[in-house]
Amino acid sequence: MAEKLVLAGPASEELGRTVAEKLGLPLLAAEFKVFGDGESKFTLNEKVEGKSIFVVQSTYPPVDQHMFQLFLASHQLSEAGAKVTAVVPYLAYARQDKEFLPGEGVTLGVVAHQMRSVGVRRLVTVDIHSAEGLALFSFPTYSVSAIPSLVEYAKAKLDLKDPVVISPDFGGSKRTEAFARLYGAKFLQLSKTRDRTTGGVSVKDSKLEVTGKEVVIVDDIISAGDTVKAAAEAVIRQGAKKALAFCVHGLFVGDAFQKLEKTSVGPIVCSNTVPGKFSKVDVSDALASHLGTLEE
Ligand code: R5P
Repeated sequence: MAEKLVLAGPASEELGRTVAEKLGLPLLAAEFKVFGDGESKFTLNEKVEGKSIFVVQSTYPPVDQHMFQLFLASHQLSEAGAKVTAVVPYLAYARQDKEFLPGEGVTLGVVAHQMRSVGVRRLVTVDIHSAEGLALFSFPTYSVSAIPSLVEYAKAKLDLKDPVVISPDFGGSKRTEAFARLYGAKFLQLSKTRDRTTGGVSVKDSKLEVTGKEVVIVDDIISAGDTVKAAAEAVIRQGAKKALAFCVHGLFVGDAFQKLEKTSVGPIVCSNTVPGKFSKVDVSDALASHLGTLEE
């Protein structure tokens, strides 16, 4: 059987190390460097021919730098004769998985094509935005779910009394419904729409049974924070006592923190696919258990 190693990329040094420890695998000796002009460089410091390497590299901002570092490492490793599994906890571009407006590029398809051309043989990610996106890849792909770990955290750390779990939109409803089911809470869905041209978010005010309730908003991504803000405002308008937010990938771009602070959403809990102050839920167990089942 091929010897296995883990490469902890610069975007996921800690998570990569933890995954390696949990799998009982050594870390690969390699170096990443970013020059002053923004160019990236990858140097491989050991022989990898015939080995199987899990390259753990999340692609949160700076998105293109992290993605390119993944491409550089994968290319070097596959050229040197290794089998590369890209382990990308947060897969950037997953929201661009179809042509929403005429002429828009399906950017996730370009990412899939690039991964293949640099020698990636398998992709493992965490809660891809939509499972349909996986169809764009021409090699085996797996989306591991962080939802059970988020639920475990909610049960262990928050003293919620009969909460209601809400999905901001139809797109994320399956994931949120799974959260509600595992928690043993009631599930409701809002109707969020995003203006595809301006990016503005609005939530339709339909009647919701949330009066006096603690409402847990569950989404895959918090980016600019507009979706969670709009959902929280909608449930508070309907009489909810409190709005909390759980998400898998907490990007918090721009003034997202301030925006959410003003809306009094809290606590906010994310997984550590993206490191940050709200990244309290560790996905290393979920990743390691999945990687441990992959056949060579
Ligand atoms: C969209 O469909 C996603 O599931 C998230 O709701 C969205 O990406 C969150 O983005 P933002 O925080 O910028 O509203």
